[in-house]
Amino acid sequence: MYFPVTRLRRLRYNGILRDMVSETSLSVDDFIMPLFVVEGKNIKNPIKSMPGNYQLSIDLLVEEVKSIRDLGIRSILLFGIPAVKDETGACACSTNSIVQRATIAIKKEISDIFIVADVCNCEYTTHGHCGTIVDNDVHNDLTLETLANQALTFAQAGADLIAPSDMMDGRVKVIREILDKNNYEKIPIMSYSAKYASAFYGPFRDAAESAPKFGNRATYQMNHKNSNEAMREIAFDIQEGADIVMVKPALSYLDIIHRAKNEFNIPIAAYNVSGEFSMVKAAAANGWIDEARITMEILTSIKRAGADIIISYHSVDAAKILNNK
Ligand code: PBG
Repeated sequence: MYFPVTRLRRLRYNGILRDMVSETSLSVDDFIMPLFVVEGKNIKNPIKSMPGNYQLSIDLLVEEVKSIRDLGIRSILLFGIPAVKDETGACACSTNSIVQRATIAIKKEISDIFIVADVCNCEYTTHGHCGTIVDNDVHNDLTLETLANQALTFAQAGADLIAPSDMMDGRVKVIREILDKNNYEKIPIMSYSAKYASAFYGPFRDAAESAPKFGNRATYQMNHKNSNEAMREIAFDIQEGADIVMVKPALSYLDIIHRAKNEFNIPIAAYNVSGEFSMVKAAAANGWIDEARITMEILTSIKRAGADIIISYHSVDAAKILNNK
């Protein structure tokens, strides 16, 4: 019986002391802000289901990145919506493709921003699946070819980190190989290793116009009932050369983040996805929650679970909160 010698509440009365003994800290350095880029000029299409997020043409994207950087956020993740899609996603495999041109334009104007390129085909295929369709399913090995080419052209355009989100088997290996063969051995890979087939991606698919036209992603993204399988995915990605591994989504998967942190000695990223963001915005718009406090509580919980890096649409709001502290 330790009571009353030990009173845990003693550490909670003074705010300064509470801060001193807090076990988790959140900083703008932890954040990556996702952004959506479209063809055209002077375009800023609001994404209805994701308040405060837009599809931006390259000219306005560059301005947006400047203001994001001025808040102290140092990294962005780019998603592209091309004017014309095709069967295999080949339209994303050139330095003239939308994200590659956006990368070049941003790098030309802003020297101190870290650009992460999402490697996947779903934004670029007419059918909205993440790869090449054969017999009504995404063909793993054919898809690896487009993924590798896409990744290489992102590196050629100046992307700082390559992030495959397609969930094909072996993608990290082929991407590492093509990067190395072309002298991009210094460019790291952040793999979406444990990416679940999740209903939390709903708003993103509106934003990126990437909802599958038939079927679903259950044959390549993970079953949300599984945890051991996530550890296998992570182990293989590390073996294949991943420098950072990711768990996605974040909030219903804090156990996976925590397990990954304990089982692997590698930086862990967590993707606080569109649906997680939109639920907060919707509840806040109704006056049902304190948005600022909830935002910080959510982001802190992702760090506490074990994530080193947080990809979140809350990054801008959170940076403003942290800066005003
Ligand atoms: C592309 C991709 C998706 C997300 C990130 N990369 C969508 C999907 O798999 O359908 C989701 C991000 C989000 O919901 O915020 N494959």
